[in-house]
Amino acid sequence: MCSTVYLLSLGLLSTVSTVLAQPGTSWCPPVHLVFARDTNEPPQGVEGATPAEFVRAADKFWSRGYGAAGYSTLTNLTALIPSDGAVVAADGYPVQYPANGSGCSSEEVGTDDMVNRVMNMAFACPDTKFAIGGHGEGGIATIRAISALPPEDLEKVIAVIMFGSSGCPDEVRDRCRSYCNAGDTACEDSPPVPVCQTERRATTDTAEIIARPAETKERRNSEQKILTCDGPDPPERGHEVGTGLDPHTAYHQDGFYVEAAACYIFNRWRVSSEDSFG
Ligand SMILES: *[C@@H]1O[C@H](CO)[C@@H](O)[C@H](O)[C@H]1NC(C)=O
Ligand SMILES: *[C@@H]1O[C@H](CO)[C@@H](O)[C@H](O)[C@H]1NC(C)=O
Repeated sequence: MCSTVYLLSLGLLSTVSTVLAQPGTSWCPPVHLVFARDTNEPPQGVEGATPAEFVRAADKFWSRGYGAAGYSTLTNLTALIPSDGAVVAADGYPVQYPANGSGCSSEEVGTDDMVNRVMNMAFACPDTKFAIGGHGEGGIATIRAISALPPEDLEKVIAVIMFGSSGCPDEVRDRCRSYCNAGDTACEDSPPVPVCQTERRATTDTAEIIARPAETKERRNSEQKILTCDGPDPPERGHEVGTGLDPHTAYHQDGFYVEAAACYIFNRWRVSSEDSFG
């Protein structure tokens, strides 16, 4: 049922795109990170916002609508996969949803937006690989998106990363990390993901993606270290954050799992590009 709705929207999408542009233009990134922020992270009060309104609200904050952990994962990843001549850097998209902690009614908006973003971007940029993920309820939205994505698009998801959320679902067990700080009660017992009654809606905004200009590159402070990512993946759980930090909200501030996540995506991307080129 769900997949029927998405297939219909994909049909619509190809009609739109032939008018607008050829897919696979030079702005297509090697990796696109689609990330959903945690409950209460800015922007708030964006229930029912249009995409333009969401972006305007999100751009007032340093974390640009990705949430702290998501934005730091993105900037670390952009440093690892930088713009190299004709090839643009890894980039991302902050999932547009309320993140207001009201369960299905909030999360399902995020799930739909994540699914639509991956499908539209995969169509516009056939060689782009995806990393998807979220923090807290953003991770729950991600888990639902995994079961809603058509298989050919899910195949392009090379990494799933979550912070303070549920465990990795079986479909992506081979390419997923769900990080959980010691003492983060949102993830310590790997709570099951509740079932939502909501019907999936596919509200594609293909025109915006297909006609999109090269995105502004994320600026990086040259003082910041670039990760080397040659160590082993750390265990997904049990990292102790510093004293005084809240284990659920401190993923960015603490940095340990954010850096692990960026390296995980980077290493998965390295392996997947070796697979396709050699
Ligand atoms: C959170 O967002 C959802 C979706 O827009 C909305 O239905 C719900 O009423 C909101 N909850 C609160 C507490 O604002
Ligand atoms: C990488 O993430 C850490 C932890 O959140 C952050 O402090 C740092 O600024 C990020 N580094 C880069 C290069 O973006």
